[in-house]
Amino acid sequence: MEVIKATLIFSSLLLTVLAQKPVVSMEPRTAAVNQDDTVSFRCRVTSGAQPVQLEWKRPNNQPLADNVKVGPDGSVLTIAFARPGNQGQYRCIATNAQGKGAGMATLTVKQPPKVRVTPASQVKVKVGGVTSLVCHASGKPRPSITWFKQDAGREVVLVSTTTDTSVTAKVTVTAPQDGGTFVCRAQNKDGTSEEKVEVLVEGGAREPKATVHQTDMVAVEGQTVTMHCQATGFPTPVITWSKLRAPLPWQHKAEGGTLMLSNVGRQDSGQYICNATNSAGFSEAYVQMEVDTLPYATTIPDRVTARRGDSMRVQCIAHGSHPISYRWTRVGGAAMSSGAKITKEGVLTIAQLKVTDSGTYKCMATNHVGNSETFVTVTVRA
Ligand SMILES: *[C@@H]1O[C@H](CO)[C@@H](O)[C@H](O)[C@H]1NC(C)=O
Repeated sequence: MEVIKATLIFSSLLLTVLAQKPVVSMEPRTAAVNQDDTVSFRCRVTSGAQPVQLEWKRPNNQPLADNVKVGPDGSVLTIAFARPGNQGQYRCIATNAQGKGAGMATLTVKQPPKVRVTPASQVKVKVGGVTSLVCHASGKPRPSITWFKQDAGREVVLVSTTTDTSVTAKVTVTAPQDGGTFVCRAQNKDGTSEEKVEVLVEGGAREPKATVHQTDMVAVEGQTVTMHCQATGFPTPVITWSKLRAPLPWQHKAEGGTLMLSNVGRQDSGQYICNATNSAGFSEAYVQMEVDTLPYATTIPDRVTARRGDSMRVQCIAHGSHPISYRWTRVGGAAMSSGAKITKEGVLTIAQLKVTDSGTYKCMATNHVGNSETFVTVTVRA
């Protein structure tokens, strides 16, 4: 009795299951992928009488896009290289003799922003004119859009007006420096995109004005000398260097407003000219540069042979930066002859030579850079 009852209950349960229309579950139910990623949805029949037929549909019976494929048993739908058009709902419809069951999956294709600006890349504006820079941006989620100006490495945000589809910045040109590089940047959590417009100001050129940091320079022989020149004006002037009445020293290096002379010598002294040129004219600025040099001393004559009672005259001559002072001494510490006279110009005279005046004499020439020595040998015969 009990057994029959149990069998009946079981059979009716089985019958209800077998007589059911299909029930499906979707895995996953939602997916968000980046553009060009690949994603699959699986439609699983959890109950219902076999045979069950599976079918995938888009809303409004749109056909499946060409990059959407259904696997051989119909349960797996794969979207390869997802694009924005693949976004939306995918319904899996399961059909058996008892009826239909359906499951739904939703795909989101994330879109980093893309911007387009008008005018594109470049626009010319006259002084006194106005131009509107328009930025269109797409992307999902909707990006935030900003116009800014690149100004000496900084970004200056511009006031702009926003409509549904674009953001517009007005650029009023009252002076050449109102031109420059303007950038529209769109940003959402999936990425950033930007586009540049160059605003070129027509007319309004200003003559250059060149200035040097130092108008007078003193260097010591062998040093490296650097001169700096700056110029205002529009368009930005080009700076060239030259030397008055002489070519630039061969070892010079000029870069922009900087002139560098390495290992300078006395011959590099002189006047250097910075020339700033643009379409409106040119401007010159001058640097007077002196190279200080060590004295280089010689004597005339460099040896003296005389008789006792003769007179002697020896001149010490030095090249180098002025002023130069001269000092005569005797080598070995002997005293100068009582009849010796020394002038500021380095001339040593002895009116009546004695035998004891024989020996070596030293002239030391000194300037503010340093000193130099030279010798003369005096031989007095009896
Ligand atoms: C400076 O440049 C201008 C224009 O190029 C030229 O006429 C002038 O002679 C230059 N001056 C010097 C000193 O080179």
